Amino acid sequence: MSAEPAAGAPAELSPLDEARFGVKSARAREVNTQNLPAVLDFCAVNQVEFLVARCSTADISAVHALESAGFHLMDTLLYLRFDLKKTPIPPNDSSVLIRPVRPDEVDQVGTLAFTAFENFYGHYHADPRLDPRKSTEVYVSWAQRCCTEPSAASLVLAAETEGKLVGFRALRVNSPTQGEFILAGVSPEYQRRGIYRAFIVEGLQWCRERGLEEVLNSTHVANVAVQRACARVGFEPAYSWYTFHKWFQ
Ligand SMILES: CC(C)(COP(=O)(O)OP(=O)(O)OC[C@H]1O[C@@H](n2cnc3c(N)ncnc32)[C@H](O)[C@@H]1OP(=O)(O)O)[C@@H](O)C(=O)NCCC(=O)NCCS
Repeated sequence: MSAEPAAGAPAELSPLDEARFGVKSARAREVNTQNLPAVLDFCAVNQVEFLVARCSTADISAVHALESAGFHLMDTLLYLRFDLKKTPIPPNDSSVLIRPVRPDEVDQVGTLAFTAFENFYGHYHADPRLDPRKSTEVYVSWAQRCCTEPSAASLVLAAETEGKLVGFRALRVNSPTQGEFILAGVSPEYQRRGIYRAFIVEGLQWCRERGLEEVLNSTHVANVAVQRACARVGFEPAYSWYTFHKWFQ
């Protein structure tokens, strides 16, 4: 559920986090015992104050090294995978209209993201040093970027019912074979009516029509709604990541 550093680099600066939270920020992907010193050096050289670091849940020595270095666990991301080659996509049985978002609906998507992600339990909200409202605004601006920047998302679907926009689902084509569901939210008063499931089914259809072979969906390990919907449709667990934060001051 978030942008990652370039492959190969130990870490990279995060201008988006810096602009949002007002502290020099960086991100590190796949930290392990070998590259942790390089990650810490990168932060020292660049005077980083706030670091977001991911490590595999299978790498317990990395977890212990991060704990010893003063990192704090903020969330656990579970990746689910749908095999488009062998798994049939069930029908969309929702009466809610699922369609591509329109250019004039970017502000509405932002408002929807605010209501859906207010009080969310992702790694930003989990950190007591980060302003909760600013943490919610991370998702607002991310959802809006998905609507306006092709590098952020390949498609944003909207759910419309009773003449209102009540949900959004962004997805991205990662490669000629892989799609990824990246961000979704449903207006609280329209939750538990199968709208997220409808997004999954329509999103999978879109990916299959483009010849993709698999679709990934990552979710907070405590997000039962996403996991239930994905399990029913035919996603399978693939791998998982811990998200740690480190404050240098
Ligand atoms: C997660 C979210 C998108 C689900 O949307 P939704 O339209 O309510 O989901 P659905 O109605 O399709 O429900 C999917 C399944 O989850 C269950 N469910 C929905 N909300 C639930 C909740 N709060 N607690 C437990 N189960 C829940 C439903 O009962 C359904 O399971 P079932 O098939 O066994 O009945 C919505 O709760 C939301 O916007 N949450 C905040 C943002 C978020 O978590 N986004 C996803 C990560 S990017």
